Amino acid sequence: MKGVILAGGLGTRLYPLTKITNKHLLPVYDQPMIYYPIQTLVKAGITDIMIVTGGNHAGDFLQLLGNGKEFGLNGIRFAYQEGEDGIASALSLARHFVGNDRFCTILGDNIIEDDIRPQVQQFAAGDLGAYLFLKEVEDAHRFGVAEFGSDHQLAAIEEKPKQPKSNFAVIGVYLYNHSVFDVISTLKPSARGEYEITDVSNHYVRKSACGYHILNGWWSDAGTFESLHRASGLVKEMRRKSFGKGKVHD
Ligand code: G1P
Repeated sequence: MKGVILAGGLGTRLYPLTKITNKHLLPVYDQPMIYYPIQTLVKAGITDIMIVTGGNHAGDFLQLLGNGKEFGLNGIRFAYQEGEDGIASALSLARHFVGNDRFCTILGDNIIEDDIRPQVQQFAAGDLGAYLFLKEVEDAHRFGVAEFGSDHQLAAIEEKPKQPKSNFAVIGVYLYNHSVFDVISTLKPSARGEYEITDVSNHYVRKSACGYHILNGWWSDAGTFESLHRASGLVKEMRRKSFGKGKVHD
């Protein structure tokens, strides 16, 4: 299993915070945002990691993360995205890194509490093409949203629907096999001019080759002022709970 973290984009929803840095380098409570997806992968047993980023601040990632020693890694791979045309397009830059493997890709502004190791191991040993993580939310229209069939299987995913068919958001953590790169190469840009990760996942949903798991713990994205603030609060609370394990601040 490999890991791919997507940390590009302009972060315009956080302007002017993102005027002089990359969104994923901003603080979420006591750590830079990019630390969290790295920790999610490492906790799940994935240590072969590529970060896809771009823009004017890409070099800062190398300076911040070095060879990943702080995370117990021996090295981190990087890919540079020229331009911004969607998550699926950024992911395609990991094709050679992934090779014939299976992998977990995380949107760099998604922070989760759960350990996804059981699902990663299940996916690695199975024959599904894709596997998604869902979380029940009150503002589903902000996300990719799951639509279920009568058998509780996924029927479709809708990207930011005005009238969501469920309250289950598709979070920015995805498991795919290498066939995803062929799927990406067939995509057409959406109405907002981007190559959408939702279109990728729908390919596997249509083939009944997409599993899912509903998260127990909290999840937050951190790409808007509200969600960035919320994510910091959730991490702060998590640190407070782990008081006694040496993780607390004055
Ligand atoms: C992206 C995806 C969306 C997903 C979300 C999770 O949206 O397109 O399907 O639910 O990430 O954070 P974005 O917020 O990047 O527009």
